[in-house]
Amino acid sequence: MGDLEARASARDLVKVYGSGPTAVRALDGVDVDFARGGLTAIMGPSGSGKSTLMHCMAGLDSPTSGTVVVDGVDISRMSQRRLTALRRTHIGFVFQSYNLVPTLTAAENITLPLDISRTRVDRAWYDEVTAAVGLRDRLHHRPSELSGGQQQRVACARALVSRPSIVFADEPTGNLDSRSAGEVLAFLRRSVDELGQTVVMVTHDPRAASYAHRVVFLADGRIVGELRDPTQQEILETLAGSAGGAAGDGPADVDVDVAERTA
Ligand SMILES: Nc1ncnc2c1ncn2[C@@H]1O[C@H](COP(=O)(O)OP(=O)(O)OP(=O)(O)O)[C@@H](O)[C@H]1O
Ligand SMILES: [Mg+2]
Repeated sequence: MGDLEARASARDLVKVYGSGPTAVRALDGVDVDFARGGLTAIMGPSGSGKSTLMHCMAGLDSPTSGTVVVDGVDISRMSQRRLTALRRTHIGFVFQSYNLVPTLTAAENITLPLDISRTRVDRAWYDEVTAAVGLRDRLHHRPSELSGGQQQRVACARALVSRPSIVFADEPTGNLDSRSAGEVLAFLRRSVDELGQTVVMVTHDPRAASYAHRVVFLADGRIVGELRDPTQQEILETLAGSAGGAAGDGPADVDVDVAERTA
């Protein structure tokens, strides 16, 4: 089961929150493979299951049924203890709100997961990541002394410092202005193209998604479409189509409002 080239795969992934008449089927049978060395964007309306998918695939939440395989290991039924250990070294996660420790410097935040798991920091890799993320001169500052974009780049470096099998990022640019967002996105793309990492990110922004090699569209807990090497225009057209065809069927009818309405 699963594509050998995939860094992470889900098969018939179902997540139900609650029970009885108020139960919510957040994921309704998702099959997806994230290829080694790719940057994938996940898009879809609010409530379509994007965060749930990221959390289940990163081992932060357990699926109701179905399997998640990361780097050949089935994590869907792993004990919390093993999962926690595996997450620290094999899976990176970037949150919309950075989640840095305020009392630690940028450098200390970046190496924190390795320090906790008593894993040696590979200095050459650390230097490469911090250089690529453009933070060399800010490493001894605390989060409160950094801009939002710089804080998010610290969070990205922290996610990458263990050379994880895969990094999941849930709206990593959701709190950033477009210039800071551009810096974070350029770094995520560079981490894939130049450092050979594998990254999956959720975004509402067609411009952010256009940095990806592939965009996967979710609706009502199911995958409803995908694009390879998409332009921003193609992403807008797909979003317009899935918004019920309200924008007609020609590119001339597509406008930015449609993407903003889905954001
Ligand atoms: N812990 C929870 N308990 C109950 N329901 C939940 C929980 N987490 C998510 N849900 C529900 O599951 C569905 C999917 O939520 P999810 O957070 O995955 O959506 P999303 O696509 O990330 O949305 P957004 O774009 O707003 O972040 C929603 O209907 C949500 O209300
Ligand atoms: Mg979400």
